[in-house]
Amino acid sequence: MSKIFTRSKIGDLELKNKIIMPPMCMYSAADGKAGKFHEIHYGARAIGDVGLIIVEATAVEPRGRITDRDLGLWSDEQIASHQTITDVCHNFGSLIAVQLGHAGRKSQASATTPVAPSSLIFADDGSYKTPVELTTKEVKKIKELFTDAAKRAKAAGYDAVELHAAHGYLLYEFLSPITNKREDEYGGSFENRTALVLEIVREIKKEVGLTLIVRISADEWVDGGWSLQDSVRLARELESAGADAIDVSAGGNSAVQPNIPKITPFYQVEYAKAIKQNVSIPIITVGLITKPSEAEALLLGGVCDFVEVGRELIANPNFCLYAAKEFKEAIIPQYERGAF
Ligand SMILES: Cc1cc2nc3c(=O)[nH]c(=O)nc-3n(C[C@H](O)[C@H](O)[C@H](O)COP(=O)(O)O)c2cc1C
Repeated sequence: MSKIFTRSKIGDLELKNKIIMPPMCMYSAADGKAGKFHEIHYGARAIGDVGLIIVEATAVEPRGRITDRDLGLWSDEQIASHQTITDVCHNFGSLIAVQLGHAGRKSQASATTPVAPSSLIFADDGSYKTPVELTTKEVKKIKELFTDAAKRAKAAGYDAVELHAAHGYLLYEFLSPITNKREDEYGGSFENRTALVLEIVREIKKEVGLTLIVRISADEWVDGGWSLQDSVRLARELESAGADAIDVSAGGNSAVQPNIPKITPFYQVEYAKAIKQNVSIPIITVGLITKPSEAEALLLGGVCDFVEVGRELIANPNFCLYAAKEFKEAIIPQYERGAF
């Protein structure tokens, strides 16, 4: 049997295969609510046999949206619309998670002022606003916002939550010494900069009990910034705090990234490999993996435990059905006579 189609677990969840759809913003929500587009978009990947679908960045408060059209779970009124997504995915046999995020200083929502660990603008090109620095009390409130959104995620039927602590959004802004210049308990040392994300992990595990994945940027590609070494250290802490898996991405915290590598197939895989050597929870890799044989090779090579296929799954919702054909695995009966 192929590695891709061997069942295995993240926390208590057993995935039917090792292909995960990573979160990808569709900017198609109204008032944070999912609509027909989301139901069909995610349902198509579920009928296409994806093991776990992670719904796009979903804001924990209105000023935490990247754009006005982000999904949200800041209000109970948004729960029912998310349930249409979880229902359709469950009906077609996929597990479904939601990525909970806060855009921090990268928010471009029109009616709100962005907040951040420090009052530093992301880019001076006219498309970003200068964020307001959160007070210590407000930082603690952010933890509550994530926990409350996770409770709503559970009520909406999600099997898991992914914390968005990557790509220069709020939680990552706290991690990086480039964006976090605070002088309180959430700034300065490594321990202080990582405190918020670790507190949120502990709180969600304790209060909500959902399977929890944390997405990080392993390296921010800026001298003096967050590094792979920091990520290895954080990964150990995340594991102790109760995180069930780590989703290893990179970059996004600075408008200029002098150390960005060439974006070629597998460009982020080495980060996943380094982190996997230091923890025992599952590691997810991502970044220009577009072929079933590539995913299989990464799994066989012990580089990661699960593979995310992003843009390729947008282009081809039936990626897993083609993979099943390639590895002579079963596909859903309705499609057996199809041209896969
Ligand atoms: C249209 C689009 C939207 C994205 N939105 C998110 C998002 O909401 N959250 C996130 O963590 N990453 C987001 N990403 C990054 C993807 O999850 C993924 O890490 C990236 O596309 C690299 O994987 P790929 O080469 O397989 O596409 C987005 C990427 C794309 C192309």
